[in-house]
Amino acid sequence: MLEKMSKKFFLSLSKNRLISSGAKKWGLKLGASQVVAGVTIDEVINVLTELNKEGLHCTVDHLGEYVQEREEAINSKDMCKKTIEAIAQHNISSHLSIKLTQLGLDIDRDFCLANMKEIVEVAKKHQIFIRLDMEDFARYEKTLYILEELRKDYDKIGTVIQAYLHRASEDVKSLAGVNLRLVKGAYKEAPNVAIQEKNKIDENYFELIKLHLLSGSYTAIASHDHQIIDKVKEFAKENKISNKQFEFQMLYGMRQELQKKLAKEGYTMRVYVPFGRDWYGYFMRRLAERPQNVKWAMKGLFSK
Ligand code: FDA
Repeated sequence: MLEKMSKKFFLSLSKNRLISSGAKKWGLKLGASQVVAGVTIDEVINVLTELNKEGLHCTVDHLGEYVQEREEAINSKDMCKKTIEAIAQHNISSHLSIKLTQLGLDIDRDFCLANMKEIVEVAKKHQIFIRLDMEDFARYEKTLYILEELRKDYDKIGTVIQAYLHRASEDVKSLAGVNLRLVKGAYKEAPNVAIQEKNKIDENYFELIKLHLLSGSYTAIASHDHQIIDKVKEFAKENKISNKQFEFQMLYGMRQELQKKLAKEGYTMRVYVPFGRDWYGYFMRRLAERPQNVKWAMKGLFSK
């Protein structure tokens, strides 16, 4: 009960535009540095370099979402291009993850597509993989449309399917062959769109993983859930699925010991590393996911 209330509270805070725009001026606060790797490209490059040294691959995310102004979307596009250039220049093993509402999806779909095309051009030059993060259901169809448009010219690109969606299984089938990140789903969705019961989402999640792996498609299993991870390892062994056909992904700052352990066992372990001034919404969603994380915010409140 308390957990549900806390989830609702932090998810509603994550959407508060007023606090979010104020937070951009504050720098990392409230303990956000536990899960956000800095504000500048130089800061994130240092973090990525250290993670690579530990045998961890990365996917970097320039934070930002629900952008309403064209100028802001263009600035974000430029930051994404610079980030790819920096990854290549420093010879870092990292993908780029992008939220399309950062690039103007809510302003105009074709404007967003044009921004993405510019980013993909730079990614193609350096052969860096691009992941379109999946946002709330209102943006779902548009995200899949942009993915299809971009895939016409570049195949090192994929998206995310959320296991809470009723339509997830159909979409995983129709995206066979595409490198997909599979997740449980982070947004609050209506019952006609998404499964509401946690145990049913977990069940569907494992079904989707099996479906995509058995179709021979590359699968990124993005979860901190050790039970799912153990089941995937076992399933891969039983079905003689090579470690090269899948990877595990976790968020920066979460379960670091488990991340290192999986890497040592020979699995590809990729850390999702967010950075940038727009850290607030991302941080609130992490607090919503796991009430235990609220202690970071509490500590942050009482430190300088
Ligand atoms: P979940 O929260 O269901 O926890 C299951 C169990 O795992 C817990 O009961 C606990 O035992 C253990 N556990 C979980 N977290 C732990 C921790 N920090 N420490 C110790 N134990 C822990 N969502 C989305 O909608 N769109 C997207 O594009 C993405 N992208 C994305 C990328 C990456 C790399 C990750 C890891 C996640 C996402 N997500 C996402 C978020 C995702 O949908 C989901 O909300 C969170 O990952 C939480 O679900 P989990 O599967 O991690 O475990």
